[in-house]
Amino acid sequence: MNTDTPQPVRLEDYRPTPYLIDAVDLDFRLDPSATQVRARLSLRPNPASAEKDAALVLDGERITLRSVSLDGALLASDHYGVDEQSLTVGKVPQAPFTLEIVTTCDPSANTELSGLYISGGVFCTQCEAEGFRRITYFYDRPDVMARYTVRIEAEREQFPILLSNGNPRERDVIGGTTRHFAVWDDPFPKPSYLFALVAGDLGAVHDMFTTASGREVSLGIYVQKGNEDRCAWAMEAVKASMRWDEQRFGREYDLDVFNIVAVPDFNMGAMENKGLNVFNDKYILANPETATDLDYVNIESIIAHEYFHNWTGNRITCRDWFQLCLKEGLTVFRDQEFTSDIRSRAVKRIADVKTLRARQFPEDNGPLAHPARPASYIEINNFYTPTVYEKGAEICRMMLTLIGETAFRKAMDLYFARHDGEAATVEQFVQCMAEASGRDLTQFFTWYSQAGTPVVTAETAYDPARRQYTLTLEQKVKATPGQAEKLPLHIPLAIGLVGPDGEDMPLDLDGVGVLNAALIELNEQRQTFRFNNVPQRPVLSLNRGFSAPVKLEASLTFADELFLMGHDGDSFNRWEAGQRLGRSLILAAYAGTESAADAEAYAQALARILNAPSVDDAFKALMLALPTESEIAAALAADVDTDKVHAARDAVRARLARHLSGPLAEIWQRTAETGPYRPDPASTARRALRQAALALMVMGDAPRGTAWALSELASPHSMSAEIGALAALVQADGPERERELDRFHQRHAHEHLLVDKWLMLNAQCAGPGAARRIERLTRHPDFKWTTPNKVYALFAGFTGGNPAGFNAADGSGYRVVADAIIRLDAMNPQVASRIATGFRSCKLLNSIRKSAAERELNRVLAEPSLSRDVYEIVSKIVNG
Ligand code: BES
Ligand code: ZN
Repeated sequence: MNTDTPQPVRLEDYRPTPYLIDAVDLDFRLDPSATQVRARLSLRPNPASAEKDAALVLDGERITLRSVSLDGALLASDHYGVDEQSLTVGKVPQAPFTLEIVTTCDPSANTELSGLYISGGVFCTQCEAEGFRRITYFYDRPDVMARYTVRIEAEREQFPILLSNGNPRERDVIGGTTRHFAVWDDPFPKPSYLFALVAGDLGAVHDMFTTASGREVSLGIYVQKGNEDRCAWAMEAVKASMRWDEQRFGREYDLDVFNIVAVPDFNMGAMENKGLNVFNDKYILANPETATDLDYVNIESIIAHEYFHNWTGNRITCRDWFQLCLKEGLTVFRDQEFTSDIRSRAVKRIADVKTLRARQFPEDNGPLAHPARPASYIEINNFYTPTVYEKGAEICRMMLTLIGETAFRKAMDLYFARHDGEAATVEQFVQCMAEASGRDLTQFFTWYSQAGTPVVTAETAYDPARRQYTLTLEQKVKATPGQAEKLPLHIPLAIGLVGPDGEDMPLDLDGVGVLNAALIELNEQRQTFRFNNVPQRPVLSLNRGFSAPVKLEASLTFADELFLMGHDGDSFNRWEAGQRLGRSLILAAYAGTESAADAEAYAQALARILNAPSVDDAFKALMLALPTESEIAAALAADVDTDKVHAARDAVRARLARHLSGPLAEIWQRTAETGPYRPDPASTARRALRQAALALMVMGDAPRGTAWALSELASPHSMSAEIGALAALVQADGPERERELDRFHQRHAHEHLLVDKWLMLNAQCAGPGAARRIERLTRHPDFKWTTPNKVYALFAGFTGGNPAGFNAADGSGYRVVADAIIRLDAMNPQVASRIATGFRSCKLLNSIRKSAAERELNRVLAEPSLSRDVYEIVSKIVNG
């Protein structure tokens, strides 16, 4: 790496800028290799700044300065200075002034996909977090909010569509030339990261939305030509999102137009630029032949997420990037609620907790652990993490649980009223929650500043003579990097005491009385709750609905867990009991101590659920999925042998499948598709159950399961069925695996999103030779190092979806991924560093794997001119 070690940015060093920028006029002359940008900035001294007469230092990167004028007069070169990262004007008026800056840049050479770049022949931008500085010199930070006017000029034929933020003002041809222009005007002040521009020859789909107060909004979705017939689902999701934010939060849309553009090359999923959201096209395009049920669900929720940012993120933005969870955590919470309201709340909650456990818990439990609001970073792009997003959403949800629906809505209204048009902090948000509810949230705030997943241990005792039930809870958080000492958190725990009849008993809490909200609050390290008038020994159902993102150790007996799995009134905890049972069976198989009787009892309890007509198919499908290999590794905590984990989990699944072969066959018959494909919740649930049954059958009775999968693949009803069958088939290393993967590729090679799915399925193929397969696929003509979706499908598919292959004891998995990181870092550091996070759990592994991983990571660190992005992630993993 560089001889100068990258230095961190710190929250405590926040200072307002010495100048404010009130308005920006941008004029683009688009040209693929030499685009010219003329920026007119209206500046004035910032009254909130303590610095007087300060120099004006603007951010800028990878752009060429052509000229600078101050109040209309060209500045001589000794009046300003430029370096790799900034433009400095030493002496500026201490009164309002204008600065006009002319720069050029080369979009065709932009492989980082940050700033202005070209995707599929279309100019597009990505400015969050710090990409605007690659377009012009600016205060590229979120607390500088300005009104933007944008003029775009380009070749008419090649770039007929010209889009930017806000409302369209003007468009015309430029007489006597082959060029034309458009002017856009955004009336809402915004930070630079929300700027966007798109120019190209795109197809479009249009619709209208009338807001609650009667504003007519014209909606547009722009895609590569030929894909117009794959936008209907996305358009419905836009309208549903707009309606929902009005109804649930009283938030209306505020411009005349709302546009979405889908591009094939995009580092992230999607981006909430004001009035012009830009999407990775995999989260827009859908039809039954190319999209799975999961794609449909993702499209719906990501469109909602980006749309909801219009209020939580855009109208109210972040003071600095340390406050990222203010917009991201809150907006994830909002999109989760949207999905819960329009689909099944119970199923959504389980899905979200699965994501949290698969992504955030491992992060919190390793060298990359950081608080939801970090105190320092080296590269901000590394902090768009599961902790900021998913734990951030959990923190919002806990506040809702603590203060209740009504006060929560009041608090949100207060937040919008008080901070509209501002760049806010997490403290200001929590202050609104405290004020609207009258509750003291001082201790609660620790959730934002402290890293690590709390472990809550429960001890219980029942005294039949006194009819008293005692619950003693203890909370602990392990040390995390930079945080050795931990404070006790304020933890809301939804609770039920389940009687032998399966009914909840009244909760008569000693010293409080009968609780009307079945919620207890743990504030101390160790705390005892005593319940009176408990007629019989109950079974404890704690953290219902996953009311707090903690690891619960309640040490219930196998029999109590089976009872909860069958009878808990809280469906989340029924699922949770099943997960704990599944985990204990896998851990026993790993240790070679499995009990046939336990496995049979578990299978019987599952069979009862599968046979119950009143239980939702989606819930049945969730019950059939055992904890993942990485959850098992985390439960083992140290010295993990990933091959043994894989084998143990497969063995338990196979045994389960044999016990359940009757119910699985019934499911297979009952769920056969009849009508046309529909992505509604009931059909989606039915297919999820069908696929879960198929996947298990392939494990338990390979010939029968394989026959089912092959019949499905011979005439697939939809892409969902096709991918489901293929995914089930490739779990095992049989001759069908290669043949069917090849056939899938032949059938769908022309469709880029399906090639990605094919790469991902390949990456997940377990068994020896996994790394060689990855290496071979990087040389496949359909693989492209410069397309993030291809890289994620193959490499994130491998590190995240194939733990046994990635962690192969010979180090071959680590080697192929380290090679990729080095190669990617030279073209797109953001993508390289995301792949590098795949190593985050290697400290849990046994020594042969740990040292193989370290060897490869050190090889990465030894690279000259490593990016800050990769340096930060890899050095933290190596030293953590
Ligand atoms: N603001 C982000 C996109 C973003 C992330 C830009 C990182 C720059 C750097 C956007 O709102 C977002 O959160 N997108 C998510 C999807 C969402 C549904 C969680 C993404 O892209 O993964
Ligand atoms: Zn977001």
